[in-house]
Amino acid sequence: MKDEILNIDDIDFSVSIDSLIESNAIPPKFKKCTFENYYPDNNYPSQEEAKNKLKAFVKQMEDFRKIKERPKLLRAISKVKKPKNIYLDGVYGVGKTHLLAAIGNEYKHKSAFLSFSELTYLIAYYTLEDVVKELSCKFDIVLIDEFELDDPGDAMMGINFIRQMNKTDCVVVATSNTLPSQLGQRKLDILVFKERIGKLVNSFDTIIIDGKDYRIKLKKIEFNETSKSIESIFETYKTKGRKKLIVDFERLIEKLKEVHPFRYTQLSYNLDALFIENLRPFSSEELMDALRFTHLIDTLYYGDVEIFASGKYNIFDLFHPDLKDGKFKTKIGRCLSRLSEKCTLITQT
Ligand SMILES: Nc1ncnc2c1ncn2[C@@H]1O[C@H](COP(=O)(O)OP(=O)(O)OP(=O)(O)O)[C@@H](O)[C@H]1O
Ligand SMILES: [Mg+2]
Repeated sequence: MKDEILNIDDIDFSVSIDSLIESNAIPPKFKKCTFENYYPDNNYPSQEEAKNKLKAFVKQMEDFRKIKERPKLLRAISKVKKPKNIYLDGVYGVGKTHLLAAIGNEYKHKSAFLSFSELTYLIAYYTLEDVVKELSCKFDIVLIDEFELDDPGDAMMGINFIRQMNKTDCVVVATSNTLPSQLGQRKLDILVFKERIGKLVNSFDTIIIDGKDYRIKLKKIEFNETSKSIESIFETYKTKGRKKLIVDFERLIEKLKEVHPFRYTQLSYNLDALFIENLRPFSSEELMDALRFTHLIDTLYYGDVEIFASGKYNIFDLFHPDLKDGKFKTKIGRCLSRLSEKCTLITQT
């Protein structure tokens, strides 16, 4: 029983940044995602179309791989050309990351899966040139989840990354990171993408998926569970091969400050469930803490970790309105949507 419990101070966070490239792994939540177990909704033909296009893309990559190693002249006369990059855009919860992972799971050779945040950490640590060289030497496809366009600085970095990758034989598939929004808004997002990315847009095929949030079908637990205390739920929670951890919110926030965000997976990927006591809202002065927390939630989501939190507040009040509507509104909105899928709130009175 004790072995199931992880203490926050016992976690070994000392993983090297190279592990981001070396592990190149599809996150636990998406490990089993394939085209086969992506079930298109017949009410939205774009889902079936996206699936078929991406399956065809995997086939094209297999063909391209065969001619890649050939001498230049032979390669030039081949009908097989390097496939275009793909930008996978769509409303929230329609399976963009599922399909991205399916590419990685079904492609027989080497692909790397990185979130856009992980890519920015790598580039900040090394240089753009080194990251491009490393990825393009080791992999045929780089899958980037949640390509960010809302922050112009990050968007520029992403664009420079694509520009350099286009000079190599490696192909990029990216998903958008936009939140639930009306169809009109989606069209605007595509325009922003096109505007930000300029001529580079020609190196992309854009696939748009419409539909309803699939998570609503998946949600197993009630959002609020008021009858029991968080400690008693923690005591009786049965782990499924990984561990469980209970921690006070303030201690968690302190710990997140001490550790570089790319290392948060050391916590998230080793847990079945995280129990946060005394959750309280982030004030407008706590932007950095709030961003670290949102990154933790992203990794917990990838890790498929159940979250239980006790507190007096509604999850949707977790961030001060200045943060919620500020520069990082997409990251924060995404965090709230993931919490609404993964978090059971135990309301304290
Ligand atoms: N058509 C589908 N068939 C089977 N499973 C699906 C389908 N669509 C989504 N899912 C599942 O629903 C969950 C949410 O999907 P996913 O995370 O891929 O959505 P998303 O479009 O990336 O959402 P977000 O915009 O929040 O990043 C995942 O567990 C995924 O496997
Ligand atoms: Mg996604």
